[in-house]
Amino acid sequence: MRGNSVEILKFNNNEELSEKAAEVIINKINEKPKLTLGLATGSTPMQTYKNLVKAYKDGKVSFKEVITFNLDEYLGISPTNPNSYTYFMNEHLLHHVDIDENNVHIPTGVGENSEKECAQYERLIKEEGPIDLQILGMGLNGHIAFNEPGTPITARTHVVELDETTVQANSRFFNGEKELVPTHAITMGIGTIMEAKEILFLVQGEHKAEGLRKVLYGDVTEMIPASILQKHPNVTVLTDINL
Ligand code: GLP
Repeated sequence: MRGNSVEILKFNNNEELSEKAAEVIINKINEKPKLTLGLATGSTPMQTYKNLVKAYKDGKVSFKEVITFNLDEYLGISPTNPNSYTYFMNEHLLHHVDIDENNVHIPTGVGENSEKECAQYERLIKEEGPIDLQILGMGLNGHIAFNEPGTPITARTHVVELDETTVQANSRFFNGEKELVPTHAITMGIGTIMEAKEILFLVQGEHKAEGLRKVLYGDVTEMIPASILQKHPNVTVLTDINL
């Protein structure tokens, strides 16, 4: 990355990467128990969450006062649906630690008025934020959260139509059945994400190598949403990709 404020940490595999990611998060919470933590879904952070659960069970960290904001949620899927991001977070982290459920924020994908839901989510982030530490992954096409290529960098939480490539990529969570993947989602905007004080950018797997190189060393362009991170003052990239 071109910015001086960006650190790139290279690991041999996802296990080592996830160990470090969990360590950073645990240290932050121990420094500031009322941490506002931005959470991401996807296969990349799963091992990190596993490590956090273990650390909690081992008495090394408590989530009692932690406030969380998830990046996104599918539209039209209820929180109890195993494919919802709410269900994902509960399964992989939230139901296994001592977090206060009143401090957990995930956009609702089944509300009557999704525009209103977006505005309310922004308001909540303003009230309880700023987000101290945002965990962030990257889609194959360079998307962050569900900000697909072409999304303005100033975007706030909004409703998006998912790219064909994203629907295809995420169909692996829906038994490979593309037709079952929702076509729309609510996502924090790029502008919202960029206001996080610190970002932990987790990118794992050779299939994302070309994308990550463009993100880190190419031009900042709305066509590769993650490239905007070059302009963030405090990003740590954790990757197992040879750059
Ligand atoms: C989804 C999520 C993103 C995530 C991306 C990559 O599209 N909305 O937040 O970063 O998937 O997921 P994975 O880690 O499974 O590659």
